[in-house]
Amino acid sequence: MALYSEKVMDHFRHPRNVGVLEDADGVGEAGNAKCGDIMKMYLKIDNDTVSDVRFETFGCGSAIASSSMATELIRGKPLSEVMALTNKAVAEALDGLPDYKMHCSVLAEEAIRAALEDYYSRHPEKRAV
Ligand code: FES
Repeated sequence: MALYSEKVMDHFRHPRNVGVLEDADGVGEAGNAKCGDIMKMYLKIDNDTVSDVRFETFGCGSAIASSSMATELIRGKPLSEVMALTNKAVAEALDGLPDYKMHCSVLAEEAIRAALEDYYSRHPEKRAV
């Protein structure tokens, strides 16, 4: 059996939503100290919904595939759903990652959370109680 699913390979080779949003409402970064990989997420938020998203990932193929898939999962979604996105959901959407690569998907969860925290720090009145 192939080590990586077709979806992982597809998102690695043709990552969606790569780049920077200059007018992002929230920017978040996550890194893994062990491997040194870094992921950055940019969110545009309108009406408590992610209206646009971009990412920059300096990392392994699984991290790139995870960030690409994560952007697809959160685009158009309400912030309550985005906040609840887990690395497991990202990995499942990719039809799985090898166990020793699961930590790569954690970067996506953490970078998105950090971007949301950045947004809420700019708009504390938006934070759900
Ligand atoms: Fe570092 Fe994949 S090996 S995120």
